[in-house]
Amino acid sequence: MPITAPIAYINGPNLNLLGTREPEIYGSETLADVEAKVARLASKLGVAVSFFQSNSEGAICDHIHQLAAEGATQVVINAGAYTHTSVAIADALAGTGMRWIEVHISNVYAREAFRHHSTLSAGAAGVIVGVGTLGYELALRACVDAG
Ligand code: DQA
Repeated sequence: MPITAPIAYINGPNLNLLGTREPEIYGSETLADVEAKVARLASKLGVAVSFFQSNSEGAICDHIHQLAAEGATQVVINAGAYTHTSVAIADALAGTGMRWIEVHISNVYAREAFRHHSTLSAGAAGVIVGVGTLGYELALRACVDAG
């Protein structure tokens, strides 16, 4: 099934649990709430966005390949825990030539040391951390601004 939107959102493992997962860290909005909020902003800004979530590293890589093949140009990605471990997702993004913005709901730098390293940051156009789910909306504004 085609994805066909120039700006694509990808959420990685356990972000499907938003709303009930450690709400003191990630807040009480569900992923559906966050996606609806981004969709509302996208429609206000006159751009099309797509949404994808997976708990599987391979499925995220496959999705990135499909996005690029279908002409997406920018990705907003919260790779969850794969942020800290996945060379495969970083390679998939770099290998397709899409521009990407990395988002984290929590301030990963104020948390455990293993969350301080990201395989995705060096190649990212921007990184937004620690402003809660607002980061997803800020990332959309950054994508639209970049054109
Ligand atoms: C996260 C931070 C990661 O360290 C964690 O594994 C997540 C969520 C965030 O949005 O703050 O799953 O990416």
